[in-house]
Amino acid sequence: MRYALISDIHANLPALDAVLVDIDRRGDADAIYHLGDLVGYAPWPDDVVTRLEERAIAGVAGNYDSTVATNYKHCGCRYEDPLQEELSHKSYAWTLEHVSEETKRRLGALPFRIDLRPLGGHASGPTLTLIHGNQILNTVYVTEDRSDDFLTKMGQSIGARPGDVVAFGHTHKPWHRIVDGTHYVNTGSVGRPKDGDWRAGYVLVSIDPSGVRVEIRRIEYDVEGAVSAILDSTLPHEFAHYLRSGGASLSAAV
Ligand SMILES: [Fe+2]
Repeated sequence: MRYALISDIHANLPALDAVLVDIDRRGDADAIYHLGDLVGYAPWPDDVVTRLEERAIAGVAGNYDSTVATNYKHCGCRYEDPLQEELSHKSYAWTLEHVSEETKRRLGALPFRIDLRPLGGHASGPTLTLIHGNQILNTVYVTEDRSDDFLTKMGQSIGARPGDVVAFGHTHKPWHRIVDGTHYVNTGSVGRPKDGDWRAGYVLVSIDPSGVRVEIRRIEYDVEGAVSAILDSTLPHEFAHYLRSGGASLSAAV
């Protein structure tokens, strides 16, 4: 089985569509799943949720999804300075104001975690676990600099064994590491990368009896279209520059 894993779309419809075109063009993915954070920061929250529904793409709840769905007091995002905090609050308020009740309902219905058994559940075999942050909260950042010990404890808590794959997003920076035989895969971000590369990111995970293969992909999309739409909206203009620079123009705020 080969899975296309798409995460942190953040209401960026042009980025999502470009990724879906790439997946379709390759034609080698057996299934597509999302890893949450469908909304926030860009002006197409309802359209992104509808597109995933149209394509029957299932997935898990990111912090932005669960906080919007429950009208929480903030988006569960981390910010490193007062400007980021202010912009983050503006994005959250804008999103709460602009999503439909149907979108909220769909976001609220997302599961926290999905376990897949690529070789079937009728026999022992590898498991692919999908979460947004970590196994306890969708707000925890599993960054590339986390220690092997941290990942081992995370894997044990999940119940992962050698040969299993644990996939998550939330940090908007893709990476892949194997610790004690378990694969830890951060799927990066479709619609709001933070690693200095503006292109939309997603990951292909192949699991078969011979083992696991992980391919991190970056896809060009109509970023200027997204920039124009943000500038034409009442969202903070900083988010447009953020997309153009792949997150380099503003260091954090997820
Ligand atoms: Fe996110």
